[in-house]
Amino acid sequence: MAFSDQFLEDLRARAGLADVIGRRVKLTKKGREHLGLCPFHKEKTPSFTVNEDKGFYHCFGCGEHGSVFDFVMATEGLNFPEAVEKLAGEAGMEVPQDSPEERQRQEQRQTLYDVTEKAARFFQHQLLSPAGKQAHDYLKGRGLTDETIKRFRLGFAPDGRNVLKQALAGDGIEDARMIATGMLIQPDDKNRDNYDRFRGRVMFPITDTRERVIAFGGRILGDGEPKYLNSPETSLFHKGRVLYGLKQASGPARKAGSIIVTEGYTDVIALSQAGLTNVVAPLGTALTEDQIKLLWRIVPEPVLCFDGDAAGQKAAARAAERALPLLASGYGLRFAMLPDGEDPDSLIKSGGTPAMSQVLEAALPLSEVLWRMETGGRIPKTPEQRAALQKRLKEYARQITDSTLRGHFSAQFNDRVWAGSKGRGTGGAKGGGATAQWTPSMELGVDLGANVTGNIDGKSPDSLRRAQQVLLAIIINHPEIFEGVEETLGHFSFGVGHLDQLRQELISVLVKNAELESDGVKDVLRQHGFAESLEVLFRDPLIRSNRVLKADAPEEKFRPLWNENVAFLHNLENAPEVKKIKETGDTGIAEEDWDRQKALLQESMPGHRE
Ligand code: UTP
Ligand code: MN
Repeated sequence: MAFSDQFLEDLRARAGLADVIGRRVKLTKKGREHLGLCPFHKEKTPSFTVNEDKGFYHCFGCGEHGSVFDFVMATEGLNFPEAVEKLAGEAGMEVPQDSPEERQRQEQRQTLYDVTEKAARFFQHQLLSPAGKQAHDYLKGRGLTDETIKRFRLGFAPDGRNVLKQALAGDGIEDARMIATGMLIQPDDKNRDNYDRFRGRVMFPITDTRERVIAFGGRILGDGEPKYLNSPETSLFHKGRVLYGLKQASGPARKAGSIIVTEGYTDVIALSQAGLTNVVAPLGTALTEDQIKLLWRIVPEPVLCFDGDAAGQKAAARAAERALPLLASGYGLRFAMLPDGEDPDSLIKSGGTPAMSQVLEAALPLSEVLWRMETGGRIPKTPEQRAALQKRLKEYARQITDSTLRGHFSAQFNDRVWAGSKGRGTGGAKGGGATAQWTPSMELGVDLGANVTGNIDGKSPDSLRRAQQVLLAIIINHPEIFEGVEETLGHFSFGVGHLDQLRQELISVLVKNAELESDGVKDVLRQHGFAESLEVLFRDPLIRSNRVLKADAPEEKFRPLWNENVAFLHNLENAPEVKKIKETGDTGIAEEDWDRQKALLQESMPGHRE
């Protein structure tokens, strides 16, 4: 079975070499590489390296070397197609069928590249011929050198209905292929002739990452509407998945560790000519999900440039919102705002690279853009207004699927909303852009930090239940650690609810069957009447979506989370109020505090819903 290069490339990116290998080998990050003990030979000091950028692992001890596919083949005894199937399954990608139809489509596409390539050459040739003088002068007038014009393969489509059509027909290309590539327009009225789409325009060829021409943008000379005309969607060109200039920019971008996203073709070209070669642009639309992912394959934090005017602000806001659900740990976006009325092309002309660099250096992280959007730079004074602001920011944070990051965002927003206000236990009154300290519980998007001190504040009911759920979920998914933590788990009582019954049953099951694996534990619990409790536990979105809690999470991920939640529960137990009750039987605390305490325990029942 043959897989397309494109598919394998996508899969490689989606699977993530270090992630796949990290499931078998404990890896530690060392600069741009990961290091671990080689799984292919016995060793005591690590000589096995994983280079995500290059897409290869290499062992300096035994010389084993390969791609993510090689790794899966070698460690799981699979052949290539099986390894591909497995990784695709894990990544949630469908493996394209190698059907005769698919092969035929592939062949058809092949003949279409021929058309776009010939068209590009024709346009280039026209630009340098007498017919293209005006267009050539126009480009020169915009400050582009012949070298740049050549590098970006700029061209000219002469003003006529059949100029390209005739030229390509002379090369033996029939109308059907010219229509399929969008070069010809076929009128609805079949009696009328097909005619050239691009007439009297400067042509910007759009290429894929293999530098094949797949579409064109055509700019009118001077003023007029539409300013740019683009190829329609074709089997070669899906504009939401392409970035203008990506092929040329990706090398320099990887080297520089940064990539700049501008709005227009001319921005890419002008910056490139000025020496900033790590620049791309979407094709006249807001950045799509696919485009953001493309960028993240190259660098972890692309910089998006927006005009400083209201429209630019709006576009930035849209991009920020779109990126939120896609964010993953270690990946982000920065937002650079240009001075009002400027685009990168004009700025570099007026202020040179220093002006542009200044704009780029001032780029704001995504969280800051959201923050400014919501606050306009001012934190409201009254607690009510602050709470409302906090709620709006929480909405943003909630959209982040990645739990680690969600925690970071929530914590940071909370800190900032309450910074400077008295009486909040977040300890976050650090002013301005304070970033909360990472704690393992942030993996859950829950900030336990305030509570580890033993204060039972307003956040506790949720946190308490959550901590108990986390402990249970960890043990159920990783029963192999039970032996070491049996005492701890036995020590805590989870109050009066179903969670505590589940805890007791879990202990009793594991004490009797030490060898059970996760699925087995679940089966036995279900047989013992805990099907619903399990269902409730694992249906909780924060538990369900959390990678650290999943059965395949490595111990170095879930162990810190376990420890922290144990510490949290332990400290809560030692809270002065609770201690007193235990020691004296006398609450000695105000009636309302006692009610709150009771509520805490009741809330820990899984059936409870806010
Ligand atoms: P701009 O109008 O900012 O383009 O649109 P620009 O690159 O600065 O153009 P110049 O400098 O006036 O030549 C940004 C992008 O939006 C798309 C194009 O991809 C353009 O590069 N666009 C714009 C269109 O598709 N159609 C239009 O009519 C205008
Ligand atoms: Mn411009």
